[in-house]
Amino acid sequence: MCYSIPGRVVEVAGRTAVVDYFGERRNVLNELRNVNPGDYVYAQGGFVVQVMPEEEAKDVLELWREAFFKLQRLDEETVKNAGVEKVSEGFSRIIGKAKAGGLEREDILQLLDTTNPKELSFLYSSANRVRHESLKNSCCVHGIIEFSNHCGNNCLYCGIREGNSTLPRYRMSVEEIVEAAAEAVNVHGFRALVLQSGEDDWYTPEILAQIIRGIKERCGVLLFMSVGTRDLDCYREMYEAGARGVLLRFETSNPRLYSKMHAGSKSTLKDRIKTIEYAVKLGFVVATGSLIGLPGQTKEDIANDILLTKSLKAEMYSFGPFIPSPQTPLADAPAPEVDTVLKALAVSRLADPQAKILVTTALEALGGDCRRRGLLTGGNSLMVNLTPLSHRRYYSIYPGHSNSSDTEDQIKETLKLLYSLGRAPTDLGVKANA
Ligand code: 5AD
Repeated sequence: MCYSIPGRVVEVAGRTAVVDYFGERRNVLNELRNVNPGDYVYAQGGFVVQVMPEEEAKDVLELWREAFFKLQRLDEETVKNAGVEKVSEGFSRIIGKAKAGGLEREDILQLLDTTNPKELSFLYSSANRVRHESLKNSCCVHGIIEFSNHCGNNCLYCGIREGNSTLPRYRMSVEEIVEAAAEAVNVHGFRALVLQSGEDDWYTPEILAQIIRGIKERCGVLLFMSVGTRDLDCYREMYEAGARGVLLRFETSNPRLYSKMHAGSKSTLKDRIKTIEYAVKLGFVVATGSLIGLPGQTKEDIANDILLTKSLKAEMYSFGPFIPSPQTPLADAPAPEVDTVLKALAVSRLADPQAKILVTTALEALGGDCRRRGLLTGGNSLMVNLTPLSHRRYYSIYPGHSNSSDTEDQIKETLKLLYSLGRAPTDLGVKANA
């Protein structure tokens, strides 16, 4: 079975095209390739990344037809069958407000505050329902290639911080990165890739642009760049070279906590936010968010993180737990409870029904079934680690980050999980307001 599903363009208006997946319609941007009604395309992250020959697309769709509807029914049943807990009127009223699109800061705080198992279960199943009602069973699966673990920063929480002198460092060459990306797309069928590294100035804007161009010459793919706080011009060059996504967390919306966690850093929270805003302005699809459970973080901070992500017009929310990493100043700090993270995902979904919400690898590190739980708590995006195995274990931002399965096994495992929940790897399009 094919990994992602092609769609048929049914309408084009200016920059926006409407793509149909067996009756499910999504808005996508068609600036990367010009497309016309009737064309069959692969879209990712709301961008057309590949136009396909009609015959080939029809063959793939034929394989998917039955499975697609089966998956949709399974998702519907999963949502319907989730037990509805009896909760207080106040709590249920807040969820009702969320569904009507009117969640306020006070409501968010109240939802984040609950530890009552019935309320938690109600919150999670409501978030899953809102996900289903807004975006049906679509799920995006991105591959991530971590191309360098050199970092000029000393974030207190991060295992690849400059000050960790025990870590062997690696840098992939331009050719190696292009080759890994082309293989991910042309052999494994990924249509969206994240290229991530520490803040490594060895990769000048010119070199990053060379990598992006090299990949775009070899394959149709949506490229997300995740290279940290770099000059605004670097982001412009990456956009001009053809990258269309940026993954850059602000890490925490609390300026005091940010300064504490990034003591000695070259950049401030303001710089970070300015970079994210600039990326949005350039036209990048932006994934951002924070670390949940940083020592000293409060519920108010998490509420502000969610609201900041929304106000930054993020297409994708990336919230993951802080996991204490050896060889860092926070090695002995505790990781957060799983529920603290799941609550952040669920509230994000209620606060922004149309968003893509990532279930991060770090959440998985908190427990075996956390990936599944994240998908049932409003999540609808996953990542698969495609960093070459010889390097992967050195990208040790936290323990348990790097699973050692090869690409085929990870894809199989991911698809098995998605299918067991009735999710299909179709594109989610762009938000209606894009
Ligand atoms: N636990 C969880 N996530 C971490 N990151 C860095 N260190 C840790 C840790 N100890 C995350 C940061 C960064 C991303 C690439 O990895 O949020 O943005």
